[in-house]
Amino acid sequence: MVGERKPICRTYLMCPPRFFRVEYVINPWMDTTVPVDADLAVKQWERLRETLVELGHTVHVLDPDPALPDMVFAANGAFTVDGVAYGARFRHPQRSAEAVAHRAFYAGHGWSHTEPVEINEGEGDFAYLPGKGLVLAGYGFRTAPPAHAEAAETLSRPVVSLRLTDPRFYHLDTALAAIDDHTIAYYPAAFSEPSQRVLRQLFPDAVLADETDALDFGLNLVSDGRHVVLNSDATGLAAKLSAAGFTPVPVELSELKKGGGSVKCCVAELRS
Ligand code: ARG
Repeated sequence: MVGERKPICRTYLMCPPRFFRVEYVINPWMDTTVPVDADLAVKQWERLRETLVELGHTVHVLDPDPALPDMVFAANGAFTVDGVAYGARFRHPQRSAEAVAHRAFYAGHGWSHTEPVEINEGEGDFAYLPGKGLVLAGYGFRTAPPAHAEAAETLSRPVVSLRLTDPRFYHLDTALAAIDDHTIAYYPAAFSEPSQRVLRQLFPDAVLADETDALDFGLNLVSDGRHVVLNSDATGLAAKLSAAGFTPVPVELSELKKGGGSVKCCVAELRS
């Protein structure tokens, strides 16, 4: 029996895709020969922002930098737990300056902000399950394994390391999402066999996604514990979430998919 799912008001950080372009290739979704409609990207992003506000959440907006075409993917700038922001350090030089803009935001908003030594891409590779007091962390493509220990020290939370093995799902947030304080949805085949066993052990009640759900970027979602905002292509995953008692809220983000991201990539959660 599924009880009533309770939404929790959240605070988010987003950055408009005014200068979004695909001008380099750092993941298998990016193709510099495919044209991007930047105006449409802004419209779709604006709709996503409005959707979150209509659901009762607070959205802070970071100023985009014309020299940083991937800056719309705000989730990569840091990972926050209980008022502490563990800053990002990007793997690719094309994105490294984004960390500076995020650091300025946290410093200006009174956060305790920690500079990382290790390579890590913020919420792209970290998820928090407050009900379990656990951080889940991905590695294999972007975030370096030593960053998991650094995050544990910085945030005083146990960190469970999970190895990503499919380059299409290069960040944890393309293959796994927290849908409430205790529950995750994930695509098992994106992880190594041992990591799949860890996930089965920790989350026997997870919502399991299939390859189509993952390729539709369905797992790259933002949930408040009841409403699950996700890419409108991901109708299969939306049905699975409904069956589990959640309320899917589809949004179109076709342009940003060309950069290899969707809903979650655009939204950093600020956990104060
Ligand atoms: N083009 C960006 C990159 O490859 C996309 C980042 C997507 N962000 C995310 N949180 N998965 O770095």
